[in-house]
Amino acid sequence: NVNIQRRKLLKFAGAGAVATAAFSTFPGFLNAKTMRVGSRPSLDFNPDIEIRLTGEVKYVSIFKGPTTRVWKVTGEVLKGDKTAITNDKESYLAPTIRLHKGQKVRIYLKNELPSATILHWHGLHVPAKMDGNPMYAIDNGETFVYEFEILNRAGTYWYHAHTHNLTAKHVYSGLAGFFIVSDDEEQALKLPRGEFDVPLVIQDRNFDQQNQLKYDGGMMQRMHGFLGEQILVNGRPEFKLPVETRAYRMRLLNGSNSRIYKLAWDDGTPIKVIATDGGLLERAETLPYLTLAPAERREIWVDFSGKEIGTELTLRSLEFSSGGMGMMGGMGGGMRGGRGGGMMGGMGGGQSHAGEEFTVLKVRVTKKSSSNDVLPKRLSKIPALSVADAENPHSPRRITLSMRHMSALLNGRSYKMNDIRQDEVVPVNTVQLMEFDNGFHGMGGMGMMGMSMPHPMHLHGEQFQVLKREVRSKSGKGYTSVSEGFLDKGWKDTVLVMPGEKVTILKPFNDYTGLFMYHCHNLEHEDMGMMRDLLVK
Ligand code: C2O
Ligand code: CU
Repeated sequence: NVNIQRRKLLKFAGAGAVATAAFSTFPGFLNAKTMRVGSRPSLDFNPDIEIRLTGEVKYVSIFKGPTTRVWKVTGEVLKGDKTAITNDKESYLAPTIRLHKGQKVRIYLKNELPSATILHWHGLHVPAKMDGNPMYAIDNGETFVYEFEILNRAGTYWYHAHTHNLTAKHVYSGLAGFFIVSDDEEQALKLPRGEFDVPLVIQDRNFDQQNQLKYDGGMMQRMHGFLGEQILVNGRPEFKLPVETRAYRMRLLNGSNSRIYKLAWDDGTPIKVIATDGGLLERAETLPYLTLAPAERREIWVDFSGKEIGTELTLRSLEFSSGGMGMMGGMGGGMRGGRGGGMMGGMGGGQSHAGEEFTVLKVRVTKKSSSNDVLPKRLSKIPALSVADAENPHSPRRITLSMRHMSALLNGRSYKMNDIRQDEVVPVNTVQLMEFDNGFHGMGGMGMMGMSMPHPMHLHGEQFQVLKREVRSKSGKGYTSVSEGFLDKGWKDTVLVMPGEKVTILKPFNDYTGLFMYHCHNLEHEDMGMMRDLLVK
């Protein structure tokens, strides 16, 4: 009964004329019982757009034969531009959300799943309470209300579950989707649009004979991170994209729990990168191959004009070596056997992410195009941060990355809710000089568990810039600069730190106070404790 719900909510919001007027815009499904205390629609927030996301158990058809049980988010626009949400009924992926910089959005997250959960807007600069910290997880039947303004520049962001100890499992089950932001600067450029602007999320999974997702969660899997034998693009196996003879903008997201891809076109065409995590680069960068760690995004420009109809191109992932100093843990996790095309038979001896080449996706030229776009020489202007901008130019905040016994640690610590140490307090409206040091800390014991692994490090809040990437020199003293295979330009929110490396970043902490997380985006590592909060105040 809508009226009862309204009355309840009025009581809840503090009755009065103002509340009555404001409530008439709230949807009827909300009531005091199902709405999460601490997050309710606020009366002074006037959204341009209102969205409802519902997480529930669903069955989708991924393969021929039995459908697959997944955790799926379905979206609906309650108020405003209906094109802001695109549901993909045939996959487990959460809907793609498209918003414009400056828009104010209210998102109702309704949890109909058999577990508490919460969503985090990866890469977006939102208030701490809207950031999906695990402490805000809501139970089955509850609704969390997010309200924020899009402050980010145009870019390919995403969102996913961020549940305490369960992020890996929840994302694996399906709880992730694109969050694409546009802005005026980007719209003024002549970039491919509509069907020529293609978001592509790359993930790996394992399935049993009944087509059901397999995730064993065993000890080795947790140490190395989950590595699946089946590659899925946009939730589909053996993904093939039909294209016209023209330029495309492809937005690549590594939505895998822990697999790192090294992407290259099979015909030797170099990869032209136009954007990274936080949007467009100043100008396109050309690379022979592209390393894409979990949670990272790269937008690439691919021009098929001049290609014959029927031409097929394959985007492959090349053999990936963790590099470093060869002191890996020796279990390996190559792709073995597997189903579908392009799987391999190798053992990843010695390197946790090694594997032979495999196919990620195929592109097939099917149609002559009547239009084309030319890659602009200049895409954007990015103000470069410098050490002089930092509040701590001479004393970087050092974060050591280590794995010991059954834990993955940051500065020797494991995640604990509301456990802020002195070195985790950051003054608001400052830029911080920070370094991630993956130089074999906690190697004590060596053996199988004393390993050093690549760690894709992610910070919540604003995007940062990478100042330098160094590797510990052979003598073990000092670092030398390296850059091979990596693209560290532009705005980033996730940076891959290889074994033996030290990566220095400049990270702004503006506007919002409260808890903002930093963690490894190898989701198994994250759940094993490789995550901490920063208190911005
Ligand atoms: Cu994409 Cu804290 O995560
Ligand atoms: Cu890690």
